[in-house]
Amino acid sequence: MILQICPGTKSYDIVIERGCLKKAGTLLPLQRKVLIVTDSGVPERYASSLAAACKEPVICTIGQGESNKNLQNFQRLLSTMLAKGFDRNDCVVAVGGGICGDLAGFAAACYMRGVDFYNIPTTLLSQVDSSIGGKTAVNLDGIKNPVGAFYQPGRVLIDADVLDSLPARHLSAGLAEALKMAVTFDEDFFRFFEEIIEPSCGENKEEDKQKTPGENFPEGKIYENIEEIILRSLKIKKDVVEKDEKEQGLRKVLNFGHTIGHGIESVAPADSLYHGECVAIGMLPMCSPEIRERLLRIYDRLGLPSSCSLDLDAVCDSMRHDKKSRGGKITVIETDRIGSYRMREADDAQLREKAAMVVK
Ligand code: GLY
Repeated sequence: MILQICPGTKSYDIVIERGCLKKAGTLLPLQRKVLIVTDSGVPERYASSLAAACKEPVICTIGQGESNKNLQNFQRLLSTMLAKGFDRNDCVVAVGGGICGDLAGFAAACYMRGVDFYNIPTTLLSQVDSSIGGKTAVNLDGIKNPVGAFYQPGRVLIDADVLDSLPARHLSAGLAEALKMAVTFDEDFFRFFEEIIEPSCGENKEEDKQKTPGENFPEGKIYENIEEIILRSLKIKKDVVEKDEKEQGLRKVLNFGHTIGHGIESVAPADSLYHGECVAIGMLPMCSPEIRERLLRIYDRLGLPSSCSLDLDAVCDSMRHDKKSRGGKITVIETDRIGSYRMREADDAQLREKAAMVVK
């Protein structure tokens, strides 16, 4: 299926089809120099099958994890293109998760003042959220994403088959971003989540409580419903981005859970918590107690963390650097009814109180 997205500056297709990575040669214009950006955690065969479809492929593999979304790797991509003689008619393709997409997209936005960019996301998190909408960035001085550009891809290929090789923890982290959209925009989607994570008949609910969180991860149910989860998330994201490409208003809702989440992610030891896990923690203080209860039941099944043990002062300090900060206040998204949201300007003291609920 093809979902067309039309944000203000450019319209492009999101191709959602099992096996589409193998068909990239027919879906993308690759008869030119192509910088393929992947990471060491992505099976090599994905980048090599794409390379086989390109006229002049150059594969650049970055390290796995958020700490690699940095200016050094950004420079490495630009220098590689320059050394290989890339010109304005050549292109960049990301084959990986959100880190790859953000870094490769930003390099594409800057090289020769912009070359074509295509995204083939291989994690659930990037398939449901980060691969569309045109946010690209790198981290700087321990802060998430302060340097970047809005730069829309030319096409996005979403192949649910590639998720088969994804570890369960990555799958859960991606589901956190899908949950974010359900909580704020779509009550029916949230109930769908609750249904698919329900313990199956025969599973002992009392025993479940004794087990390590995530041990009962309902992998089969998730995989059975994965395309539905991707599609429902993308429809929400498309709708938001089309109304507010540059995050002047509505798009801020997609940052639900991200203010505290980014603070945690910046302070936690490098790559110890995934982005989706930090967002999962960050959503909890922004919900009414009733919604928090419902979310916690889902987190328990998915093995998502509900708190973390970090220095609260450091997390608060990091939140102060958030891009969303304006005149010492940050717009936060809260909800007390599933499928709805409210925006509020929060000051340092209010944010600290919220963060203290989950940073212990
Ligand atoms: N991931 C949030 C956004 O794209 O706005």
